[in-house]
Amino acid sequence: MKTIELNHPLIQHKLAILRDKETGTKEFRELISEIAMFLCYESMKDAKLENVEVETPITTLKTGKLNEDKYAFVPILRAGTGMLDGVIRVIPNAKIGHIGMYRNEETFKPVNYFFKVPKDIEDREVIILDPMLATGGSAIDAIEILKEKGVKKLKFLSIIAAPEGVERVEKEHPDVQIYCAHIDECLNENKYIVPGLGDAGDRIFGTK
Ligand code: PRP
Ligand code: URA
Repeated sequence: MKTIELNHPLIQHKLAILRDKETGTKEFRELISEIAMFLCYESMKDAKLENVEVETPITTLKTGKLNEDKYAFVPILRAGTGMLDGVIRVIPNAKIGHIGMYRNEETFKPVNYFFKVPKDIEDREVIILDPMLATGGSAIDAIEILKEKGVKKLKFLSIIAAPEGVERVEKEHPDVQIYCAHIDECLNENKYIVPGLGDAGDRIFGTK
């Protein structure tokens, strides 16, 4: 599946502030959350609704409602948790799992340190959250772990992606739809996204 990039002046505007190295922790967090909300909105375009009848103050109509019990969000720790409150505003009754991963600074390979997901995860559509898709290693590992747990439908939401990472994930998991706010130019020698926004986790949590 071809990666879907949000192409909208409002997103470009928010990304411009997000990328600015002078943007402080509070505003950075708010923007990550807002952009995540728009990504979630876009990713639900293919959602199947259940038929319901609603009585309005005027009349009754047949319409559709989302069965929110069919969804789970899984942020990749740490930075992915910054996207949680935005997506939860869109699907408030979704369950939440966590995958803990950090990139080894020398090999750039992901190291898995935590895993806890809802018991019925295999019956849910899982939406993985991570603001940065760089080499794609963390995304690929997270997708593999969830598939091993029996998850059949997966989506991946990221704020900024590198073309190298997008290509790897698309190739290894062609069934997983990626949504991102922007695909940047490349990775640098430290596997950081260029122009990117720096270290998302450190900027969300103020750890550097
Ligand atoms: C960042 C980011 C992704 C990963 C992306 O996490 O949030 O999880 O790197 O890189 P990849 O595509 O090359 O795997 P980081 O290791 O900085 O951990 P943190 O979220 O705890 O800061
Ligand atoms: N992780 C980040 O936080 N930023 C990057 O550019 C790459 C990986």
